[in-house]
Amino acid sequence: MEQKQINLRDGDCVSLWQSEVVSSYSDSALDIAKIFDVVIVGAGITGLTTAILLQQQGKKCILLDGNGVGFGTTGGTTAHLNTFFDTTYPEVEKDFGDGEARLFAEAGKEGIDTIQELTRTYGIACDLEYREGILYSETEKETKQLLEILEASRRAGVDAVETRDNGIPVEMQFAVSFKDQAQFHPLKYCKGLLQEFIDLGGVILDQAFVSEVSSQDDLQIAHVGEQRIAGKSLVYATHVPPGVTIFNFECAAYRSYVLGIKLKNGDYPEALVYDMQEPYHYFRTHEIEGQPYLILGGEDHKTGHENPEQAFKALEDYTRKYYYVESVDYKWSSQYYVPSDGLPFIGLIPGESNTYVATGYNGNGMMLGTIAGKLISDLILGKENKYQKLFSPSRIKPVAGFSEFIKENADVAYHFVADRFAAEDIDSFKDLAAGTGAVVDYKGDQLAVYKDDQGKITALNPTCTHAGCTVKFNAEEKSWDCPCHGGRFDLQGQVISGPPRKNLVGKNVIN
Ligand code: FES
Repeated sequence: MEQKQINLRDGDCVSLWQSEVVSSYSDSALDIAKIFDVVIVGAGITGLTTAILLQQQGKKCILLDGNGVGFGTTGGTTAHLNTFFDTTYPEVEKDFGDGEARLFAEAGKEGIDTIQELTRTYGIACDLEYREGILYSETEKETKQLLEILEASRRAGVDAVETRDNGIPVEMQFAVSFKDQAQFHPLKYCKGLLQEFIDLGGVILDQAFVSEVSSQDDLQIAHVGEQRIAGKSLVYATHVPPGVTIFNFECAAYRSYVLGIKLKNGDYPEALVYDMQEPYHYFRTHEIEGQPYLILGGEDHKTGHENPEQAFKALEDYTRKYYYVESVDYKWSSQYYVPSDGLPFIGLIPGESNTYVATGYNGNGMMLGTIAGKLISDLILGKENKYQKLFSPSRIKPVAGFSEFIKENADVAYHFVADRFAAEDIDSFKDLAAGTGAVVDYKGDQLAVYKDDQGKITALNPTCTHAGCTVKFNAEEKSWDCPCHGGRFDLQGQVISGPPRKNLVGKNVIN
């Protein structure tokens, strides 16, 4: 049977968006002696928005991605656009102040407006639609919290009112309606931005993994294999920047789970809907080639900490409790980073010159990735931006023990315990079912072992190359996930996301 081409992403599960293929780009004639104004690492929504806004202003930009457009979280988002956030307005008022809560609300609105403006300016057909957003409670405790959110949202200038219906078949106590929320198709949007970026003279290289960045004479130099790509500024649009950095203490990696479902009775929600459970569930509808799908997400947990199979099962059980499911056509998971104080870190990296970061979006990456594009492009262009202080990475306080952490982890041994297996060693792995992986003891050491459907075994050193934690097998996405800072590796040990710069050591295949 003919296999349909899909856009690749950082896992084995396929998201609803991946049938939208964003073509591969590489420029073999690239003049690597050329100095770019800005080198942008990461071709998700943050990198593309930054790139197009700078290129529009005459800056010469190059966009580098270790894989391709939308390979990371942008290809696995559920693409909700909201004027409220996972960090609630009462929390922002309490921790930062009333003015800051208002500013945060303005950022949400500006994120949606910017997407709409770029969509209109460039005629991008990305299914952008405005919808009502509904947040509802199911218990007394949640209702109390929701009333506080309603009041604080109004104080922050957000258009929010009480409503009597949550628009889904789940019993509720109280609900709040937020006007002018939106949804879109993230890969169609990225595809449109990329085309315009290229038309404006921008350069993109995919399959261009940046293994290191050095600086020389005020230039930032990205190392991609043997190539050296120099720019006056460099932007990490990769969530946390690669390597051991202060952001590993400030942002915790989480995974969220999503199903794309056909319903028997057409009971698809009109609105974008959210409950208040911990972790919360989120609902919306998207049509792909005329077929509506209920997109239902939740069951989030820290990366590498829980069992992804159980998370999908819990999500499906939850869905079947409330909906007449015809088929679950898609299931996928995606990674996001929760910031320590609730607000994202966007701007210059403390202690570095001309190097920028954008991370800690929580579950609100489409709006905050867009705002990051605006904020970072303004900083590079020398323009004022009202969010500069609120989101500044310089607000990070010094972290106790950080230099010891660096020192200890500089020496982590990544040696491989065995170069070859003897035939009898294969016996040690015979209990492992085909298509699964596990970290196993092997002659007093540990191995990350995967057995494919044909019984072929790949063994890796399970020591994460970032800072030495032990990776865990993710049976759903077929990856090795690190529980410490969200580093993820494919079955061959190649880095697919997170802060590690180097692949897991020592691929060893046994037939
Ligand atoms: Fe930090 Fe693995 S991601 S140790």
